[in-house]
Amino acid sequence: MNPTTVKTARGYNFSAGPGTLPEDVLIELRDELPVYESIGSSVIEISHRSATYTDIAESARHRLRKLLGLNEEWHILFLQGGASMQFYQIPYNFLTPQDSADYLVTGTWSAKSVKEAKRVGGVNEAASSKDKNFSYIPDPSAWDINEQAVYTHYTSNNTVAGTQFHEEPDVPSTLICDASSDFLSRYMDLDRYGLIYAGAQKNIGPAGVTVVLVKDSFLQTRNPDLATMLDYGVHAEKLFNTPPVFAVYMVEKVLRWLEGKGGIDGIKGVNQEKADRLYNRIDASDFYRGTVEKGSRSFMNVCFRLANESLEPVFIQEAAEAGLLALKGHRSVGGMRASIYNACPIQAVDALVAFMDDFEQKNG
Ligand SMILES: Cc1ncc(COP(=O)(O)O)c(C=O)c1O
Repeated sequence: MNPTTVKTARGYNFSAGPGTLPEDVLIELRDELPVYESIGSSVIEISHRSATYTDIAESARHRLRKLLGLNEEWHILFLQGGASMQFYQIPYNFLTPQDSADYLVTGTWSAKSVKEAKRVGGVNEAASSKDKNFSYIPDPSAWDINEQAVYTHYTSNNTVAGTQFHEEPDVPSTLICDASSDFLSRYMDLDRYGLIYAGAQKNIGPAGVTVVLVKDSFLQTRNPDLATMLDYGVHAEKLFNTPPVFAVYMVEKVLRWLEGKGGIDGIKGVNQEKADRLYNRIDASDFYRGTVEKGSRSFMNVCFRLANESLEPVFIQEAAEAGLLALKGHRSVGGMRASIYNACPIQAVDALVAFMDDFEQKNG
């Protein structure tokens, strides 16, 4: 297979996760997978304690530091168990039955994180948009903040409903963020945070690794006598067990690719432009309608429906035939969802917009 074959066989992939990866990264992977540099084997067949893997993991950390502006106070962990493991690991490390944490419940994933936190300690659901199927981010003036909360957990981007915080929560306690579906799409105000986590499979790599950023001062407040594998301190101190080497190797490549795009400064403008083009098309006629409040719209997961909902399966089918893949919305919302993560090129959005124009002309 040569790069041209890859190009023509690949559609534009709008999958919510695992999501599309940069094509250049896939081509590089294909070329170097059987034999990495001069080691005589692939990188996924060698010890995770070898110099080769250590260099890759260190390079990934170094690039992440540079991209996000993380100083040495931040530990960068590559963990397994998905973002879902973090739902429990966070309260297990930082909450007790005597304390309470605030949770902003803005989607199915944050609701799941609440469920796990309740196993460990007190939870105050300081805000919720469940009353309207998570179609908005509740206004901060209505939040029921606990000044004594040990932390405030929120989901910066709600992958399923297609909403996103456009301002970071201004709360008295340390923020913890599930940034799985908008990680590295924009900057974060690091001073406010104790811990940030993201499953890789949307914006930064394949499934299998969860990036956890934890500030040392916050780490030191964790509970004593934790189970070894669930203790962030163990992973911050050493390479305790076999890490997800393939996923980390891919993350390193995606980070390099992102640097080539101008880093976060470069990509955030493109992300804004992609979202604007798509939302403008949705709003241009009554044939389409967005499913969330305009001020809460996600730049990563764009959810929309047709006025005539019975045509939606036809839209999804014909789009797939045209090479516009994985547009079916989550069952809890219905309709369509276009996930336009960092690696989704602007050409994909333009192709989708053109398809939407055609589809409306034929069926409107
Ligand atoms: C915002 C968010 N958090 C958590 C998860 C769960 O991630 P994982 O499947 O890696 O456990 C997802 C998955 O889609 C997600 O979108």
